[in-house]
Amino acid sequence: DLHSFPTRRSSDLVLIGNWKMNFNMHEASLYLHNLMQLLPSYRDVEVVLAPTILSLQSLSLQINRRIAKLAAQNCYWRDHGAYTGEIPAAHLRGIADYALIGHSERRYIFIESDKDIRLKVQAALRNRIKPILCIGETAQERALDETKDVLADQLTSGLANVTAEELGQIVIAYEPVWAIGTGDNAKPADVKSAVATIRRHIAHLYGKAAAEQVRIVYGGSVTVDNAADYLAIRDLDGLLVGGVSLDSHQFKEIITKAHSKEK
Ligand code: 13P
Repeated sequence: DLHSFPTRRSSDLVLIGNWKMNFNMHEASLYLHNLMQLLPSYRDVEVVLAPTILSLQSLSLQINRRIAKLAAQNCYWRDHGAYTGEIPAAHLRGIADYALIGHSERRYIFIESDKDIRLKVQAALRNRIKPILCIGETAQERALDETKDVLADQLTSGLANVTAEELGQIVIAYEPVWAIGTGDNAKPADVKSAVATIRRHIAHLYGKAAAEQVRIVYGGSVTVDNAADYLAIRDLDGLLVGGVSLDSHQFKEIITKAHSKEK
């Protein structure tokens, strides 16, 4: 039950823009330039941009980290070696503040296993990169009423070997697969219930205090119009925005809504 969790210390929100496989280096730089012009430095909203790997390094030199932070969209878990085409978390250290791990597009298009995801979470933590662990049920799992089990399994597996202290570095992103890129956004009531499920399972794994502190965001067809409905969920700490984050004006509008939200 949501009400069994007392209010958490920080009411700060995190708003992550996942650009997926969009924007070349030039477009990425232009976007960042525009967003920096549009956006004041809001102390109560942490803005995070996730460009493709190619743009990460140059954006890290361009970005004003008081205004926004950077996330990798993926990373490999080994630190070096014969792994053609991979980029280790070790090389992202100091460049990316966060890394998306286990995004459903990684799980289902690139067939990442729970074990890959667990190892990537650990590699990120080891390299001072905050993991954004993405979890969520597919349409089929939802139809079979398996959402709670899927969330619990993905949390148990993704967080295995993560200490209670390290949990404070992690953001959990609830992204129901059926809501991603479909325009079929989850109902705020369903998100609220998923967030409660996640906190309950974290309480089971780490105890109540850790469950109160962990940050949880929602992603899946978030728009300027529906953002406020999610931001009104007391136990939710922010949003993970895909398509709409590609428009700096719209993304800025969502950020502004988070800033002006009554806390
Ligand atoms: P959309 O906002 O485009 O549905 O994407 C959500 C997402 O996958 C963010 O990681």
